[in-house]
Amino acid sequence: MVFVVEFLRAPRRTGALTPSSPWSIRALLDEAEVTRARHVVELGAGTGAITKALLERMPPDANLISMEVNPVFFARLERRFAADRVTVVSDSAEDLPQVLAEQGFDTVDRVVSALPWTTMPHSEQERIVTAIAKVLGDGGRFSTLMCRHRAASAGARRFERLLHSHFGTVRRGRTVWAEIPPMFAYHCSLSARPD
Ligand SMILES: C[S@@+](CC[C@H](N)C(=O)[O-])C[C@H]1O[C@@H](n2cnc3c(N)ncnc32)[C@H](O)[C@@H]1O
Repeated sequence: MVFVVEFLRAPRRTGALTPSSPWSIRALLDEAEVTRARHVVELGAGTGAITKALLERMPPDANLISMEVNPVFFARLERRFAADRVTVVSDSAEDLPQVLAEQGFDTVDRVVSALPWTTMPHSEQERIVTAIAKVLGDGGRFSTLMCRHRAASAGARRFERLLHSHFGTVRRGRTVWAEIPPMFAYHCSLSARPD
C-alpha cells in the first residue's frame, strides 16, 4: 500500500506502483553475480525487495550500502533492516561517490538498481551514470532493471546511449514476460568484454 501512496504523491520519482517481483529480481541478480562480491551498492531501494534478495545472495562477510531518496521509504528500510549488515543511506544516487567516501570506500564491485530512469531528467541520468562508472573498481559491474514497454521511449534511448558512452560492455538480459509490465535488466562493465 505504501508504494501506491508514494507513487500517487510522486509518480515520476517513485517509478512503479508495486515493488519489484521475485521474477524481475531473479533476472537482475542472476547475472549481476553478487555471490562473489565484497562491496555492493543498491540505488533506489524502495521498500527493500531487492535489498532482501541481495542479502540472501551476497557472501556473509560482504557489505551492502542501500541508497534511497524518499524519506518514507528510507524510514521503513531503516526499521526493516536494522539487524542486518546493510547501511541504509538517505541520499540521491547522484551523490554516490561522496556517500562511499563517507563510508570509507573508493570503489565497489557491484552497483544494482531499479531506478526510474525513463522518467528522470537527462541531466540526472547523466550525473548518476557518471557517478556509477566512477566508483566501479576493476571487474566491477552495474546492473539495472528497465521496463520493456518503455525501452523505445526517448528517455530510455538516451539512457542506453549514456550506458554505451560510459561502459565498454552493455548487454540486455532476458525479458521477464511474467511481470506486469514486462521487465529486463541491463548488465554493464567498464571493460570491452564481460568479466
Ligand atoms: C521503481 S522503484 C524500485 C524500488 C525497489 N528497488 C524495488 O525494486 O522494489 C524506484 C525507487 O528509486 C527511488 N529513487 C528515485 N530517484 C532516486 C535517486 N535519484 N536516488 C535514490 N533513489 C531514488 C524511488 O524513491 C523508488 O524507491
